[in-house]
Amino acid sequence: MGLSALLAACGPSEPVAKVQLPEADSPAARLVADRCGRCHAPPDPRRHSAEEWPAVVERMRVHMVRQANEVLSDEETRVVLEYLTRHGRKS
Ligand code: HEC
Repeated sequence: MGLSALLAACGPSEPVAKVQLPEADSPAARLVADRCGRCHAPPDPRRHSAEEWPAVVERMRVHMVRQANEVLSDEETRVVLEYLTRHGRKS
């Protein structure tokens, strides 16, 4: 099995690039690396602006329940969103 088949089997092909999360040692970055890195590589916060992130994370909560039977709690969602919007794309 080639690498592309392997990646395909693991889930969406994006975002698969390894990113260095800002403040990688902070609790929020660890939470993102853990909870947002299960189906694909943890996303680069600069991928979306602060305005865009809430809708993306809401969609991910649906994916989690549907695909993994996992719930991102309201408190976890708050921490993840605070982190992603703070480091989000500026323009
Ligand atoms: C249960 C599996 C699963 C988990 C856990 C998960 N995702 Fe995703 N993610 C997906 C799937 C499936 C796609 C592709 C379909 C889509 O974009 O909705 C995706 C795509 C993405 C994308 C690329 C699409 C876009 O709109 O930019 C981003 C960014 C993303 N996820 C962020 C996150 C974040 C942030 C978290 C943690 C809160 C997370 N994901 C956790 C399944 C998951």
